Amino acid sequence: MDQRPIGVFDSGLGGLTVVKELVKLLPHEDILYFGDTGRVPYGTRSPETISKYAQQDIAFLRRKDVKMVIAACGTVSAVLPKEVVKGFSFPYSGVVKPAAQAACAASASGKIGVIGTSATIKSGAYGKEIRSIRSDAIVIGNACPLFVPLVENGFIQPDNPVTRMVAQQYLKPILENGVDTLILGCTHYPLIKPIIGELVGEDVTLIDPGKEAARGAAVLLQSQGLLSGREQAGELHFYVSDSTQGFEQTASVFLHTDSVTGHIEQVDIDSL
Ligand code: DGL
Repeated sequence: MDQRPIGVFDSGLGGLTVVKELVKLLPHEDILYFGDTGRVPYGTRSPETISKYAQQDIAFLRRKDVKMVIAACGTVSAVLPKEVVKGFSFPYSGVVKPAAQAACAASASGKIGVIGTSATIKSGAYGKEIRSIRSDAIVIGNACPLFVPLVENGFIQPDNPVTRMVAQQYLKPILENGVDTLILGCTHYPLIKPIIGELVGEDVTLIDPGKEAARGAAVLLQSQGLLSGREQAGELHFYVSDSTQGFEQTASVFLHTDSVTGHIEQVDIDSL
């Protein structure tokens, strides 16, 4: 048993969709979340910069003595080099592998769509992971750079005309290729799942990376005897690199709760 918190990070608040799933699955665990709100977005940056930021984020969580690190960010999971990950001396998970596994299991035709940030799609990481599980798979990816700013600015209502119009455009090439499964390859996208779901139709299975990563983390902690074993509810601790003003309100949208309880603190980016 291990009483230490689970560390989760993202470039901003999208990773809270992973926290939401973790709380559901592992209600007795403490979770420490870091959102690099001072440097979001990552998805438009170079692999070198994303990798540097991610390693700083991970070092921050490690200094807080977390028992596991989850990169709740499609971009970091896709870009952080395998050699860096191999060097970690602690349990680590991204979102690419668990989402790819779920997509391969869900797809009957093997035609799988992936949407994500520009850096994620450019990396080809989802495609590589999918083909390592299912060599006959055909993967169709499309970058959706406007989705993150739309979500961060609250354009998430299912009938929002702007987000619908943008989504229609982004999903066109995916639909033209007749996929039966679509990975929402960025942890911001579950917030606009109703819009995406309606546009692709109910015959297309949507894979939420947050759900899959949370499931994977639960299995890993259980198998390594690292669950807290506590009876009482776990606590949430939030750290952000920009002002905490407005955090509670935005975070409650991502977490699907009326209000956010827990410790909220701004950390100095230069000390990361
Ligand atoms: N939530 C991140 C991801 O999953 C967001 C993107 C960004 O910072 O551009 O890719």
